[in-house]
Amino acid sequence: MSMTNKKTIEDVAVQGKRVLVRCDFNVPLKEGAITDDTRIVAALPTVQYLINNGAKVILCSHLGKPKGPAPEFSLAPVAARLSELLGKDVVFAADDNVVGENAQKAVAEMKDGDVVLLENTRYRAEETKNGEALSKEFSSLADVFVDDAFGTAHRAHCSNVGVTQYVKDSVAGYLIQKEIQYLGNAVNAPVRPLVAVLGGSKVSSKISVIENLLDKVDKLLIGGGMAYTFMKAKGYEVGDSLLEPDFIDYAKDMMAKAGDKLVLPVDTVIGKDFDNDTETKVVPEGGIEAGWQGLDIGPKTVELFSNILKTAKTVVWNGPMGVFEMPNFAKGTNAIAQVLATLEDATTVIGGGDSVAAVNQAGLGDKMTHISTGGGASLEYLEGKDLPGIAALNDK
Ligand code: 3PG
Repeated sequence: MSMTNKKTIEDVAVQGKRVLVRCDFNVPLKEGAITDDTRIVAALPTVQYLINNGAKVILCSHLGKPKGPAPEFSLAPVAARLSELLGKDVVFAADDNVVGENAQKAVAEMKDGDVVLLENTRYRAEETKNGEALSKEFSSLADVFVDDAFGTAHRAHCSNVGVTQYVKDSVAGYLIQKEIQYLGNAVNAPVRPLVAVLGGSKVSSKISVIENLLDKVDKLLIGGGMAYTFMKAKGYEVGDSLLEPDFIDYAKDMMAKAGDKLVLPVDTVIGKDFDNDTETKVVPEGGIEAGWQGLDIGPKTVELFSNILKTAKTVVWNGPMGVFEMPNFAKGTNAIAQVLATLEDATTVIGGGDSVAAVNQAGLGDKMTHISTGGGASLEYLEGKDLPGIAALNDK
């Protein structure tokens, strides 16, 4: 099934219609304040288009993982922020039933171009079960359904998948369209050479990504905690470094299959303890000592990876190269972000989660071609899986 031939908001009439838009407003909150509004900003093109075209814009989203109504997971702060960004009133339909009386009343009072935000869809425990009853309730508010929640596209829930069964026009918003375009082209129709950089702590969580990407990439660079399982598979000792013993054989098979496509670190920054201020040294391949642990890629690896990245026309990056949350072990990750920032005629795609945090921490977010708003969703996309939230939308 193709993920790229979905109908979009431009393929349906929206003037005067009630358009229910599923967004991913699952933003980080600290004491009720939004600490990163990237996902709200990312939804603006779709919301603004619908306002400009005279739709009644009804927005919904989950936030966190509540199992029922819970004030600390209310979407009220999102309504306030959205209103600031749009420069326009956003009516927040406070309603423990999400699509209960309050929400219905707010929607009934809308004029063309108005915006209403519903309460957290997970205030209804049935949301994550993707059942008929709640899906129908969502559909009762919608003449047209738009899914723009890329970050949620790997979930099959009532508000993004179930609802599509009961609304004839179910189409993609601009954010989903953009994510598919960049992630999809990078992996399936890349300008070559295509280089993927994979990091993060666990091989086990990246197996399907490695398998899917190995067939497609020209080079696959592996850093981060997952590299130590590969080092062990090469026959080296890795001291107290992260290691997944059950995946050593898998790593051996991968290395045999990949040949020189797969590039591992040639040196490592090791530390005595898992602590920013611990004693450190740089050791060559195979040099990790007992009682020490690998915490970052070393300078020779940075040079090796950089030289390969400089030849790339497309780069996909998922996962940090070391413990980037600790400044002393963020150097490898920052260096990779720096190299990507200097690639002038290459497409650079940052696939979600920690790598996004790392790029932003380095202050280089605006130097990348595309930063995905999906964590789990972008990972599953890189695994080559169909995402249910996208598959459910109407084909062109
Ligand atoms: C995310 O933040 O990855 C998405 O919003 C999905 O959230 P979930 O893991 O709670 O379903």
